[in-house]
Amino acid sequence: MRRILPRLIPSGAQNFMPKVVFIDPNGVERNVEAPLGKSLMDVAIDNNIDMEAACEGALACSTCHVIVDQGWFGKLEAPDEDEEDMLDLTSNLAPTSRLACQITMTDALDGLVVRLPSRVANLLRV
Ligand code: FES
Repeated sequence: MRRILPRLIPSGAQNFMPKVVFIDPNGVERNVEAPLGKSLMDVAIDNNIDMEAACEGALACSTCHVIVDQGWFGKLEAPDEDEEDMLDLTSNLAPTSRLACQITMTDALDGLVVRLPSRVANLLRV
């Protein structure tokens, strides 16, 4: 008979839901729930944030470009080489630019603030 082990998540933590703030090019803020383990791109799509995400996370378009708030940038895992190469090709590049499809939500990112650039380049069409 299979024994069921107790969950290792402390009570109360099971319902924890991080939040993310998206700021559109006009400065309008949206504070949305961002489930653990989801990509920031999926969080944006699930909440009707204006993000094209043309390649659906395949790291081929850069239309999920976000500019991470300076205070949060260092808390993200560093981009890998493929993301950096894609960012090098995008427009409106900022020192804290990232691709939302490459950011995975963790509890440490609760409160993350990102801005949407006024213009994104779809590298699938270039
Ligand atoms: S959705 Fe295409 S690179 Fe992120």
